Amino acid sequence: MTSSNTRFENKVAIVTGSGQGIGESYAKGLAEAGASVVVAELNADQGRRVVAEINDAGGAACFVEVDVADMASAEAMSAATVDAFGGIDYLVNNAAIFHGMKREGLTTVDLAYFYNFMSVNLYGALHCTRAVLAAMIDRGGGVIVNQSSTAAWMPAGFYGLAKLGINGLTASLAMELGGQNIRVNAIAPGPIDTEATRMVLPEGAEAAMTQSLAIKRMGTPADLIGTLKFLLSDDAAWLTGQIISVDGLQVTRI
Ligand SMILES: NC(=O)c1ccc[n+]([C@@H]2O[C@H](COP(=O)([O-])OP(=O)(O)OC[C@H]3O[C@@H](n4cnc5c(N)ncnc54)[C@H](O)[C@@H]3O)[C@@H](O)[C@H]2O)c1
Repeated sequence: MTSSNTRFENKVAIVTGSGQGIGESYAKGLAEAGASVVVAELNADQGRRVVAEINDAGGAACFVEVDVADMASAEAMSAATVDAFGGIDYLVNNAAIFHGMKREGLTTVDLAYFYNFMSVNLYGALHCTRAVLAAMIDRGGGVIVNQSSTAAWMPAGFYGLAKLGINGLTASLAMELGGQNIRVNAIAPGPIDTEATRMVLPEGAEAAMTQSLAIKRMGTPADLIGTLKFLLSDDAAWLTGQIISVDGLQVTRI
């Protein structure tokens, strides 16, 4: 049975990067739990597909095209959400350059690529947070969940650096916004079986990686949705500034 605290009727959620993979699963999971969901995505075809699937299943969703690297685009996303659903309660900063990302070192990657990568994968979460703030305050508060990664605690190049930044952003924003009744937490998934992971993981790496976990399998997007709903819900009313690993114990932090 779903507890009433994880039912989100009359709540409005934006999920960035929800045209596929984990974001798609988040958008569908929140819609199933009763939220009105904005699928905020750079890839319009994929975003529209997810919206159609949510609406066909009886949920409430609309598509907003956004480039989270661009502050004006994030502001337009926020305005479009208020127009469509009357306000904003939840922001899930999931968008990132992940599938198809370059596999190069910090000292060799093209700097223009690096700066754009950080603008999407780190500053994107700040742009979207700044963009939704006034609307959340109008509702009396809200909840933000950022998508980190266990890569934040690994020597994982610019991808890990951006995720470590997400962790710092999460704690700082939680401190800055707590007085306005806005909580900010992050989920740090371990290896999740998405199309993007299958593109990014080197051939043959999966077996060794899953053997190193306490729970010896890849995670799935479905493994993350319960944590997302918990963090958004009033069950987590005194929980802010935290990075929650959902990773089969890929990383031990004691
Ligand atoms: N898959 C994993 O194993 C894993 C593990 C830990 C963390 N993560 C994180 O979870 C999130 C989703 O991962 P995924 O596997 O679904 O990846 P994915 O690459 O399939 O999904 C990312 C989505 O973000 C969108 N996007 C990219 N740039 C954007 C921009 N500038 N503006 C708006 N949208 C943009 C893409 O179009 C895509 O739909 C990412 O933040 C990723 O870093 C993934």
